[in-house]
Amino acid sequence: ANTSKSVDERLLNICEILEANVSYYNWVGFYFRNGDKEELKLGPYVGEPTDHTIIPFGKGICGQVAVSNQNFVVPDVTAQDNYIACSITVKAEIVIPVFVNGENIGQIDIDSNTPDPFTEADERFLEFVCAQVASIL
Ligand code: SME
Repeated sequence: ANTSKSVDERLLNICEILEANVSYYNWVGFYFRNGDKEELKLGPYVGEPTDHTIIPFGKGICGQVAVSNQNFVVPDVTAQDNYIACSITVKAEIVIPVFVNGENIGQIDIDSNTPDPFTEADERFLEFVCAQVASIL
């Protein structure tokens, strides 16, 4: 039998490890481009279930990163007008794109219940995680 872990199991493991080991990472998940559509589809995640399983490009923090190809650090979600709220407990968010062969194919999305918790160290660390993710897709 093939007992190797599927990509989704590996991605879920990454979410679990991040959520369990960083106190201010409270919801951790992946969104990926949904085929040829101009939208993101929710992949593996840990944290509260979200209604936002499909996010059109341009909408919310995640949809903006799908278009900009840039990291998006949000210290205070209440200060964003193009923001999709998943939970009233969330204070801050960070989204880092995943590139495969230079193409933005998805992202890691992390919500925090702590105000303004993310530093450049989180960006560098999560860029590294995303590069590892790209290598297993
Ligand atoms: N807040 C995100 C939506 C996804 S939830 O955080 C899981 C956004 O504005 O794109």
